[in-house]
Amino acid sequence: MTQSDLSRAQSLITSIPDYPEPGVVFRDISPLLADGPAMRVVTEALIEPFAGQFDIVGGLEARGFLFAGAVSAMTGVGILPIRKAGKLPRPAAAVSYTLEYGTATIEGPDVLEKGERVLLIDDILATGGTLTAAQSLVADLGAEVIGSAVVLELTALGGREHTGEVHTLFAE
Ligand code: PRP
Ligand code: ADE
Repeated sequence: MTQSDLSRAQSLITSIPDYPEPGVVFRDISPLLADGPAMRVVTEALIEPFAGQFDIVGGLEARGFLFAGAVSAMTGVGILPIRKAGKLPRPAAAVSYTLEYGTATIEGPDVLEKGERVLLIDDILATGGTLTAAQSLVADLGAEVIGSAVVLELTALGGREHTGEVHTLFAE
């Protein structure tokens, strides 16, 4: 993985003004997802600082699932699906939060061992509402968040003031 591979991957993320509401510039990762070599370098770079430090990868519905799945396949660890409310038959914990364009609740299943080491993965850090909620959720589930990694951080929205340290591949 080289810096130019990563720069090329970053160039695939497109900005769409006024979606899903006026004033929001939506970052569309679809072209990145569609590009195999870009997905490989991004997945490698997301986990690079955490090698050997996590037992399971937590993916945030929906776009975080795509990278969590790639991490699982690359490393052999399992996936904790952190889901939007109402999708799990028996949620073991729930946390509500606000994000750049609305409010939501996430829920997690009862699959973690006490003290299990979780790496949280998502595509975008904006206000930090989603990731902060996921960190609380994992604690409520009895496990430990050893790190959080995102593909793109929107720095103007100040997310990391809420989340604490986040490994970010690209920042705008
Ligand atoms: C998006 C994105 C992050 C979150 C970041 O998810 O995938 O999870 O917003 O925003 P925040 O830092 O302000 O919380 P969204 O809830 O839109 O769901 P999706 O992945 O299902 O599109
Ligand atoms: N999630 C929160 N804010 C976002 C944005 N501006 N683009 C894409 N996903 C987001």
